[in-house]
Amino acid sequence: MKHVIIFGGTGMLAGATKWLTENAEHIFIVGRNKHRLERLRPEHVKNNFQLVTLDYRDNKALKEFLQRTIQTYGPVDLVVSWIHSVAPDAIPIIFGELQDQKQRWRLVHIKGSSHDLSAITDEITVPKNCLYCDVQLGFKIEGSVSRWLTHEEISNGVISSIYYNKRKTVIGTLHPWSKRP
Ligand SMILES: NC(=O)c1ccc[n+]([C@@H]2O[C@H](COP(=O)([O-])OP(=O)(O)OC[C@H]3O[C@@H](n4cnc5c(N)ncnc54)[C@H](OP(=O)(O)O)[C@@H]3O)[C@@H](O)[C@H]2O)c1
Repeated sequence: MKHVIIFGGTGMLAGATKWLTENAEHIFIVGRNKHRLERLRPEHVKNNFQLVTLDYRDNKALKEFLQRTIQTYGPVDLVVSWIHSVAPDAIPIIFGELQDQKQRWRLVHIKGSSHDLSAITDEITVPKNCLYCDVQLGFKIEGSVSRWLTHEEISNGVISSIYYNKRKTVIGTLHPWSKRP
């Protein structure tokens, strides 16, 4: 992986972000909070590592960031997106900026919700040059109780989706939906 961008990589995805940092040539980690971003900086900083303070609800800033990074580092290979529904324009903007790339790219789209199953399972239309990898966050049923996923389970599931190039990953289970915590 040459050029990787991760949105929302400082929280529950921190483990996956660390793994990507070790495996990508150029990685851009996007978030709003500088301190949370800084916590991901490796001890021995390589050239490939950049923290980007950006609010993905800011459409203009998001477009400018994508244009700048493509201009500087060339085509993007992988976008990992943990983008909440408060930013409905963000994914269409990413598609718009990457759809003319000659090189194919991969979107690992992580979707989770505590109340809306359709927000997790709905499919989206992607540009022709995009290989879409769907990661659906469910919950775990252990005996008679259920619980939400741990950060480690979520990060490991995302790493597995990237490593094995899986088109669809369900971490935990989504059924029966009524059994969620
Ligand atoms: N199925 C499940 O088990 C499941 C599903 C979903 C969530 N959860 C749990 O719920 C917890 C909360 O989830 P969460 O998504 O709120 O927390 P999170 O993953 O800990 O943090 C959200 C990530 O998105 C970034 N972010 C949020 N808004 C942004 C914006 N407008 N612009 C740019 N970056 C933005 C945050 O960075 P900044 O704050 O720096 O912007 C952070 O990197 C998680 O810790 C997880 O354990 C569980």
